[in-house]
Amino acid sequence: MTKKVFWDMDTQLIHSAQYPDSNTGAISQAVIPAVAYAFPDVETAAAVVAGEKEGIYYGRYGNPTTRTLEQKIAELEGGEDSIGLSSGMAAISSALLAVLSRGDHVVVTKDVYGGTYNFLTSLAPRFGISVDFVDCTNLDCLQASIKENTKAIYIETPSNPCLTVLDIEAISKISKLHSIPLIIDNTFMSPYLQKPLELGADIVVHSATKYLNGHGDVLAGFVVARKKLITFIREKIAGNLGQNLNAWESFLILRGLKTMGLRMKQHCSNAQKVAEYLENNEAVQKVYYPGLRSHPQHQLAKRQMKGMGGIVSFEVRGGFSAGKQFINQLNLAMISFSLGDPETLVQHPASMTHFSIPENERLKFGISDGLIRLSVGLEDSKDIIADLEQALAFCSAHVKVNSGQHSYNESTPIIRKI
Ligand SMILES: Cc1ncc(COP(=O)(O)O)c(C=O)c1O
Repeated sequence: MTKKVFWDMDTQLIHSAQYPDSNTGAISQAVIPAVAYAFPDVETAAAVVAGEKEGIYYGRYGNPTTRTLEQKIAELEGGEDSIGLSSGMAAISSALLAVLSRGDHVVVTKDVYGGTYNFLTSLAPRFGISVDFVDCTNLDCLQASIKENTKAIYIETPSNPCLTVLDIEAISKISKLHSIPLIIDNTFMSPYLQKPLELGADIVVHSATKYLNGHGDVLAGFVVARKKLITFIREKIAGNLGQNLNAWESFLILRGLKTMGLRMKQHCSNAQKVAEYLENNEAVQKVYYPGLRSHPQHQLAKRQMKGMGGIVSFEVRGGFSAGKQFINQLNLAMISFSLGDPETLVQHPASMTHFSIPENERLKFGISDGLIRLSVGLEDSKDIIADLEQALAFCSAHVKVNSGQHSYNESTPIIRKI
């Protein structure tokens, strides 16, 4: 069966790279858990292993169900090829290791995902790789941070958790000027809302654990890039480190992707309503959401992104205790470390994801004591807002204002109701 190649994204999500099974006519993707594959003769086996002939030869280097998904992700991102891996961190570390060697330096946006920060500051230096975290909203600063041995620029936009939006096109011009690859973590947007390769990026990485799968039941990651780089990652990094993505999880992501368009529209529309509500609430000091006019990169976001995404971060008045007590008081939103699921998920970075980082360090990355990250789910926006409202009202009643400073009165213990 031949297929039209220039479909819109909503059609691509359903049809790209997928065909009815040639034996049974089954429309949904077959799950093939096989590790071993038989060859008609030794010459064919040798040609497949050598990469001279297309094929799968051993589960650590590829899988037919996963291959369908890899082709689909590559098409959705507009890339030449992609590789599915066991987590977003497997994708991020593999992409970085594919372009960096001993003695190399990488420039990284300063508010990058915590796992990426940990990899770059703890493991990468053991292999002679150095890193500088830079404010990439400032292009002069970015330009000045590039050294002789800089071999990549790595960014995340919008960033986790403060939703800083970076100018992909402008940054890609800088990377091209220095002939170094630009790597972008597109997890928060998904290809539905942002296509970094079209804007000049060279490599896209994803935590498919989030919006791509979208149901909170799979851990997976993807790297999208030129075929040569993907083959290198498959053979020399992921294959050797054993980071393969299995058939069942690939099947679940293929299933999740079919509804990604509907999901992303609902995430965006709910998040916009939530952000507008929060911006007008007295108990909230600041809201970070690219869809708000008050966001410093609102115009850039409108230009670069098809939608503003499902993550809203905000600061509640009253500092650390107020932030903690606010999320303890929520009933519908669940306290969780993940994001991008159908359920509204909430976390308090200062006491959860970033608790081990000293306050002065945390503040450099914009993680204030009262900061809350909300992954706005697919529920009815009225219910999400009503839940926030009751928790904010509770917190307001316990915040003391002393000479303009807000602090939380901790005398009332709060018990979470779920
Ligand atoms: C922006 C971003 N990138 C990467 C990751 C890592 O993904 P995973 O947990 O699938 O390894 C996360 C996880 O929260 C994330 O938020």
